[in-house]
Amino acid sequence: MTKSEFLQRRLFLKKTVLAGAGVAASALAIGQMRGHDAMMAHGENHRSQRSQGCMMGSAGLLAVKALPAGGILNSLWRLPNLSQEAGFFRATLVAKPMQLELVPGVKTEVWAYQERVPGPLIELMEGETMEIEFENQLPQPTTVHWHGMSVPADQDGGPMDLVMPGEKRIYRFTASPGSAGTYWFHPHPHHMTAEQVFRGLAGAVIVRAKDDPLGALPEQHLVFSDLKLDRDGQVMENSMMDWMNGREGQFALVNGQREPIIKVNEPQRWRLWNMNSARYLRLSLAGIPFTVVGTDGGLLAKPQEMTEILLTPGERMEIVIDPAILARYGESFELVSEAYDRGKMMGALVTPRTVLANVHVGSGVTQAYAMPAQLRPIERLGEEVHTRRIELQEVMDMQRMHASVGSSGKPQGMDFMMNGLLFDPERVDEQMNRGEVEVWEFYNNTDMDHPMHIHGTQFQVLDRQMSGEGRIEEPFVAWKDTVNVRPQEVVRLKMVQETAGDWMYHCHILEHEDLGMMATLRVV
Ligand code: C2O
Ligand code: CU
Ligand code: CU
Repeated sequence: MTKSEFLQRRLFLKKTVLAGAGVAASALAIGQMRGHDAMMAHGENHRSQRSQGCMMGSAGLLAVKALPAGGILNSLWRLPNLSQEAGFFRATLVAKPMQLELVPGVKTEVWAYQERVPGPLIELMEGETMEIEFENQLPQPTTVHWHGMSVPADQDGGPMDLVMPGEKRIYRFTASPGSAGTYWFHPHPHHMTAEQVFRGLAGAVIVRAKDDPLGALPEQHLVFSDLKLDRDGQVMENSMMDWMNGREGQFALVNGQREPIIKVNEPQRWRLWNMNSARYLRLSLAGIPFTVVGTDGGLLAKPQEMTEILLTPGERMEIVIDPAILARYGESFELVSEAYDRGKMMGALVTPRTVLANVHVGSGVTQAYAMPAQLRPIERLGEEVHTRRIELQEVMDMQRMHASVGSSGKPQGMDFMMNGLLFDPERVDEQMNRGEVEVWEFYNNTDMDHPMHIHGTQFQVLDRQMSGEGRIEEPFVAWKDTVNVRPQEVVRLKMVQETAGDWMYHCHILEHEDLGMMATLRVV
């Protein structure tokens, strides 16, 4: 198929289904799809579900109300340090299937780290050495990847370093000085990452500095994840639509809870993690201003006031919430994710506005928090020695897709690629020299947003350019490891890799990663 052929086909997929037209070829493919997605893709059902405001279609799914809501937000359970020795963090971490009672009276099988969903919080000090003995009690090979942290390549838990079922291994690295920030860990085996994460495997990491300008603020930790349960309260397999668009469960959770209550009785530092497979979060607190103080790789140089933030899968942010400001607007507010159109295909709707939590404001604080004007120095990276362009592409092949329906596992005929290639663990896609500044340009030549993530380092986004428009410079300098790239957009970033080894870069919509939108960077 030539490129224009596949683009036409792509357009065809998007348009015909949205219009509900009974074109023979699309009806054939859609008619073969499983379960509620087939229903959803069909024009009539599609329209009636839209009128009910239901994004996922209701057939086969547990009602959202089945999950209790309104409890006080639980804090994350902290993994205890078993080491007596200063400068060391030692612990064991087990991944295994288990049953949880999420819906009253119903046992749901999940896969969990340390019997918790979300997994435990690992807290390290800068300079501290972490040594975790990991045990895989899952029925599949897995890895533990330390998203955003600079660790030696052989401790990064990439897809080549599998821990087989029943096996153990030790992950060992030192949280480098200057690395204080908000990170996370999750499985990274090729083809199986999406499933392992949607069954419950993911946990938070915080690296702390001794001299943190916001160190005195109490913290709230908000891990956003979602869950897709069938009528029997069991975690559903990915449908064709989930594979294509990335999975969004009907339950949008915070620390595993539906619409919890967050009490703000004093200025608080919130750390936010988007651990969803594919759900974008356009976060807002009734439009009230808050202050962004950190991104993926830790504090900003200067605080930034905002009323809304986009947190795409894999990304983290730190914000400061001030009750003295909130109280001017009222006593309680919804923390919501506003509707966001990320270009989902085949009749999938725009993810609607979703309430994530309720914020209750204490009335005792009238004095606004004295935010420091500077948080830490961030040097802009110097002149680049090399520029590379990575083009994101997709090919939808209806015949192959059709043929693979009903077979178990990953479907065929949905290829998400970079520079014309699907991920191949045997291939090195790019090679760069240690310590050299490079500019990477991600050009998204597809119709869907893709949050692109690079292992091994933190980078600085330079600018963004939509096709036919001018370059828009990033408003402030920040350390990031994941950046969203919209359709027909070029995002330019600067990075230095300091550690030799093979590193992954990929789309953090986990289904796209598993379907091949991943590649290997060799640093020498
Ligand atoms: Cu969070 Cu390569 O991943
Ligand atoms: Cu990562
Ligand atoms: Cu993607």
